[in-house]
Amino acid sequence: MERVLSGLRPTGKLHLGHYHGVLTNFIKLQDMYECYFFVADLHALTTNYAKTEDIQSSVIQMLADWIAVGIDPEKASIFIQSSIPQHSELHTILSMITPLGWLERVPSYKEKLGEETPSDLHTYGFLGYPVLMASDILIYKAHKVPIGEDQLAHLEFTREIVRRFNYLYKTVFPEPQPLLTTAPKVPGTDGRKMSKSYDNCLYISDPPDVISKKILTMVTDPHRIRRTDKGNPDLCPVYDLHKLHTPPDRLQEINTGCRTAGIGCVDCKKVVIGEINTLLAPIREKRESLVKQPDILRNIVERGNKKAATFAAATMQEVKEAIRIVYDFRTAGL
Ligand code: TRP
Ligand code: SF4
Repeated sequence: MERVLSGLRPTGKLHLGHYHGVLTNFIKLQDMYECYFFVADLHALTTNYAKTEDIQSSVIQMLADWIAVGIDPEKASIFIQSSIPQHSELHTILSMITPLGWLERVPSYKEKLGEETPSDLHTYGFLGYPVLMASDILIYKAHKVPIGEDQLAHLEFTREIVRRFNYLYKTVFPEPQPLLTTAPKVPGTDGRKMSKSYDNCLYISDPPDVISKKILTMVTDPHRIRRTDKGNPDLCPVYDLHKLHTPPDRLQEINTGCRTAGIGCVDCKKVVIGEINTLLAPIREKRESLVKQPDILRNIVERGNKKAATFAAATMQEVKEAIRIVYDFRTAGL
C-alpha cells in the first residue's frame, strides 16, 4: 500500500477552517493509504524558538482535536515529530547535500524575511525549514503528501533533494507526489479567512453557546441593513458557512429567502448555528472524554511513536549504508 505522510504545526485548538481544509481530508485518506500523521513541533521552533511555553499545550490540544474529529489511531499512525530522533538525524545528513541557493530561493523564506517580523528569523534553523520537512517526508519514504498550495514549493524542494541523494549515493527514496487539497472558503466571524491571528475563529471545541454568540455577531451582506432590505448571499460570509454545513434543499430556501427578504439575518444565522452545533456535538463529547482521560491520548501517541520509530530506524540504516557511514571493525587489519 502507498504511504501518505502529513504534518501540522502545533497551533493549539483547531478551528472549522482546519476541519474543512485538512482534517476531513485526513479522515478520507486513512481509509485509502498507510497514513502517518504527526505534530510538527520542531517546525514550531523554527519560528517560535523564543516563546516555547505554549508548545506542550498546543500539541496536546491539537491531538485531542484530531482524535475527536475521527482521525483513527487504528488506521493511521499518529505521532510527535520530536519523539522520533531520526527526523533530526536525516535532517543533518540532507543538510550536507543541500545547496544554499536552493533554500534561499524558497518563496516562503523570501517572503517571511521581507516582512516586519518581531522575532529574529535570521537563523540557520529557519533557513533549513524545507530540509526538515524533506526529512519528515523521506524518513517514511512517503509516496503522497497532502498539502495546501502554500507548501508546494517545499515539496518540490524535497523532490530535488531526493534526486540529488539518489544520484550521489544510491536510490533510497521515492519522489513524493503532492495530494493537493483544495481548501474550501471558510470565513471567520469578521468575513476574512478564518485564522487564529485574526481572532475570528469558530473552534471545534467551542461550546454551543459560544458558537451561537460568535455567529450572531458575525458580519453579513453589508448592503442588507434593515430586515426589509433584500440581501445577496454571494456577498455574505454567513452564507459561505451555510454552503459548508446546510443540506442542499435548505440551502436553496435560505438563498431565495435572503434575496427576497423573506428571511431575516438572525433567523438565517440560527439555522447555520443549528447545523454547526449538530456537526460538533459528537466531536465535543469525544473531546471532553479524551481530555478527562489523558492516558488514552498518551497511549495513542506512544503507539504511533513506536510504529513511526520502527520505520524511521530502518530507513536511517539504509541511508547510512548508502552513504557508507556504517562501520565494520573486522576490517581493522586491512
Ligand atoms: N510545513 C507544514 C506546514 O506549515 C508542516 C509540515 C512539516 C509538513 N513537515 C511536513 C507537512 C511534512 C507535510 C509533510 O503546514
Ligand atoms: Fe447573509 Fe443570511 Fe442575512 Fe442573507 S439572510 S445576508 S445569507 S445572514
